[in-house]
Amino acid sequence: MWKPPERIRYKSLESEWPNASEATSSLLFSPLKFQSMSLTSRTWVPAMVPWRSTESGYVSEDVLDWYERFASGKPGVIVVEATGIRDIPSGPLLRIGNNSYVDGLANLVRRVRKASQGKTKIFIQLIDFLTIRRRPQRNRYLLEFLEINDHHRKNLSMPLADCDEVRDKLTSLSDDDLSNVLSAKEWENLTYGYRERVSDTELEEIANLPKKLPALFASAAKRAERAGFDGVELHYAHAYTMASFLSSTNMRQDGFGGDVRNRIKLPIQVYEAVRKNTKQNFVVGCRMLSEEIIKGGGSLSDAKFFALEFAKSGMDFLSFSRGGKFDDAKQPRVGSAAYPYTGQSGYECMPGYISDKFGPFGRNLEPVRKIRNHINLEGYHTPCIVAGGIHTFQQAESILQSDQADIIGFARQALADPDWFEKVRAGFGSSVNLCRYSNYCEGLDQKHKQVTCELWDREKMDEPNIKKSKDGKRRLIAPAWAATDR
Ligand SMILES: Cc1cc2nc3c(=O)[nH]c(=O)nc-3n(C[C@H](O)[C@H](O)[C@H](O)COP(=O)(O)O)c2cc1C
Ligand code: SF4
Repeated sequence: MWKPPERIRYKSLESEWPNASEATSSLLFSPLKFQSMSLTSRTWVPAMVPWRSTESGYVSEDVLDWYERFASGKPGVIVVEATGIRDIPSGPLLRIGNNSYVDGLANLVRRVRKASQGKTKIFIQLIDFLTIRRRPQRNRYLLEFLEINDHHRKNLSMPLADCDEVRDKLTSLSDDDLSNVLSAKEWENLTYGYRERVSDTELEEIANLPKKLPALFASAAKRAERAGFDGVELHYAHAYTMASFLSSTNMRQDGFGGDVRNRIKLPIQVYEAVRKNTKQNFVVGCRMLSEEIIKGGGSLSDAKFFALEFAKSGMDFLSFSRGGKFDDAKQPRVGSAAYPYTGQSGYECMPGYISDKFGPFGRNLEPVRKIRNHINLEGYHTPCIVAGGIHTFQQAESILQSDQADIIGFARQALADPDWFEKVRAGFGSSVNLCRYSNYCEGLDQKHKQVTCELWDREKMDEPNIKKSKDGKRRLIAPAWAATDR
């Protein structure tokens, strides 16, 4: 992953912890109600993909164990990982693209309700993503995948050559010469792997996205409702389809790209379709970016506009992330696909302990404060969730007390210690395992390996009946909070 050039090393923050009565009277552990969303506390576990579903995207026993473990800490909300709305294969990532997924998801909801004793609301993040392929081997690309056309013949000064002659010539060129013969898109396909963009409207399925996506999201949300979820989080952030519509890099010419008003059209239509097809008390919100952090990417003023429009349209919450784009991703190795969290925008999404002068803690706070302030001044009070390097009670409580956000997201901290919430509430904050922001978990995600945390995945390996990773070296969920530590 990209790291800021300053390379300053940070440790987890030293912190005072509240006693049980201070915790109980804190804002963090006080309830929040807005429209149909009613939470027992202002704590939130944002979506995190753990690579544990079956190959066909069904809920597995490992998925159940994973969410049950988070639920035993009783946060206000758990958002289940990005879950694909289409009926297309995507490896061990959860899916909700047809009715056969409902039973497994219903089981997941039941396990979370039981483990949290009904204290945790459970939402599911709905995602759509476009095709991305692995970086091809050079000769294979030139000899098999590339479609030869007259543009190549012209650039090679071989007007009468047949396809095989053109391919042979291309394989003999140096990279510099080859890059001058191929189009920019072909060169990208060769050096990074093929990736669809929302602006590829010459492709029928991309041109038709605005026609298809509202119904696809609405059907997925209906299934989530049938499975018993309290709500859905529409994934409008990072590198995926809906964020790409919102992005200032979206240059579609069909009324869904260019100006901010055009870029937000489809996200609003998707939201309206979801709202129309679910019951009134079903929570619907979105995850969006405060800033894209890429060259020519969307700024805070775009995010202020989008957030206000989402608030006006009636969303129940706005959860903010930042960055996480393909645009600045590192070049993948041959045989691997580009990964959207490897560039600077990825760092901003999941800041690590090697950082710049600002450090890894609360980098999204100021943008979120400004966005929230903007919608509040316009008379809207949609709860805003902030995440990014928040791991102590003091950080979280002071953000709420100083009116900078409404709910605190703890992603990696909840992974490092799913009992953070119960420990802090009960006055045992000093026994929390604090996240080091090492991004070991993120490295596993990048390799499509079952995600675990380095703080506990080799602990108490001799416990009976623990489940281990495929290579048998790591335990899959955090050890229980020992009664002797209470
Ligand atoms: C392993 C892993 C998987 C993630 N998967 C998702 C995801 O499915 N959807 C999403 O919106 N964000 C995802 N994120 C980003 C987190 O939700 C969160 O925004 C980010 O980690 C910053 O918050 P933190 O500092 O509290 O961890 C993931 C993060 C990690 C570490
Ligand atoms: S591996 Fe654990 S300590 Fe490291 S960033 Fe992930 S959750 Fe935090």
